[in-house]
Amino acid sequence: LFPPVCCLFLSRSTWGVVSACPFHCVCRNLSESLSTLCADKGLLFVPPHVDRRTVELRLADNFITEVGGNDFVNMTGLVDLTLSRNTIHLIRPMAFADLESLRSLHLDGNRLTILGPRDLAGLVNLQHLIVNNNQLIKVSVQAFDDFLLTLEDLDLSYNNLRRVPWESIQNMASLHTLNLDHNLIDHIAEGVFGELYKLARLDMTSNRLRTLPPDPLFTGAISPTPYNAVISLNFGGNPLHCNCELLWLRRLIRGDDMETCATPAHLAGRYFWSIPEEEFTCEPPLITRHTHKLWVLEGQRATLKCRAIGDPEPVVHWVSPDDRIIANSSRTSSFSNGTLDILVTVARDDGAYTCIAINAAGEATATVDLKIIPLPHRGGVGGNAGSNSVNTKNNRNCRMGGRG
Ligand SMILES: *[C@@H]1O[C@H](CO)[C@@H](O)[C@H](O)[C@H]1NC(C)=O
Ligand SMILES: *[C@@H]1O[C@H](CO)[C@@H](O)[C@H](O)[C@H]1NC(C)=O
Ligand SMILES: *[C@@H]1O[C@H](CO)[C@@H](O)[C@H](O)[C@H]1NC(C)=O
Ligand SMILES: *[C@@H]1O[C@H](CO)[C@@H](O)[C@H](O)[C@H]1NC(C)=O
Repeated sequence: LFPPVCCLFLSRSTWGVVSACPFHCVCRNLSESLSTLCADKGLLFVPPHVDRRTVELRLADNFITEVGGNDFVNMTGLVDLTLSRNTIHLIRPMAFADLESLRSLHLDGNRLTILGPRDLAGLVNLQHLIVNNNQLIKVSVQAFDDFLLTLEDLDLSYNNLRRVPWESIQNMASLHTLNLDHNLIDHIAEGVFGELYKLARLDMTSNRLRTLPPDPLFTGAISPTPYNAVISLNFGGNPLHCNCELLWLRRLIRGDDMETCATPAHLAGRYFWSIPEEEFTCEPPLITRHTHKLWVLEGQRATLKCRAIGDPEPVVHWVSPDDRIIANSSRTSSFSNGTLDILVTVARDDGAYTCIAINAAGEATATVDLKIIPLPHRGGVGGNAGSNSVNTKNNRNCRMGGRG
């Protein structure tokens, strides 16, 4: 059942003296660097008797299901490792920890679902990482830590990624080519390409991007460097929302790709570069519904609502009666849909609140009056605060009194 990888044999290769070579594999010692060629040999695991001095190890087109343990131990001189088109679903943490010379790692065409924080640890000289055509759903933020500065080529295309670790990608100072096409990515972090001065090719084709953040890399605001006179940028096959937020992109002189708009409805299906700039419009926020006045018994919860529409979708902030933006705290939650929750109201929450809806096209405001009905306070704190009055003027006086 298992291939006889256990058995060593001595080969008198015409290319040089190679003492041990895994059964079925071909080992060549050309110009003093050893290549171990085991592609398409029906292997179910990495042969244990690979010469640790090997510089190139080819294991593509086998049936290897996992790597790690002792598979690559002591291979400190290995430069090129190819594991393409196996059935690898598991990389054991630290599997490649000894491969300090490795420059190229091919893992494409496997069944990986996750790249964990230590799966690629130790690859301090890695330049090419090829992991396309797997089933990746998650890549750890730490996965690339050991080769952030050396990596030139990262291929994560044809996976199932919704998110990629932009936090680490933005530090890949040597990155030349980034392939993220054919995933489910719906977000590019703003400013992420700002320091990738060597980036020459970015492929984001066929993802779920509705918009792209303006970035100096694309706008040409950074002067072309010796490395990248022209950047190749592909983002066709995304459901682009062609509003004013994408105007910056439309203004770039291009027109060679087949990008189309998915929304708004009147631009659906139209070729991105053929739509006149003035049709990339936004709608300023409009507050359609909001709480006008709310009476709440002191100590009860108060829920203030403010509903806004607009394009892009407005974000709603709340400003307190004393003119401060209300942040989340143990007592208050301010949700982006416009709801403000004050969990346990106190007398000083009383007053006029302002909800501000903001988007790229402008802002709109509305005022909400919150009246706190004070409870009779036992003990003398605040004197008049004990009155049961719901009269707003008195109420205000009480509050002042309570503070003093
Ligand atoms: C490869 O050949 C050189 C001599 O040309 C020799 O010194 C070296 O040990 C050989 N390497 C292996 C792994 O056999
Ligand atoms: C790796 O090298 C260490 C130290 O030289 C040695 O003890 C160990 O047996 C080697 N392991 C393998 C799998 O070659
Ligand atoms: C407050 O927390 C909620 C989730 O609990 C979050 O959706 C919202 O954006 C936060 N608001 C602010 C202003 O940070
Ligand atoms: C806003 O979001 C919060 C938290 O997700 C939810 O409890 C609340 O019902 C939402 N409000 C509206 C008006 O949709």
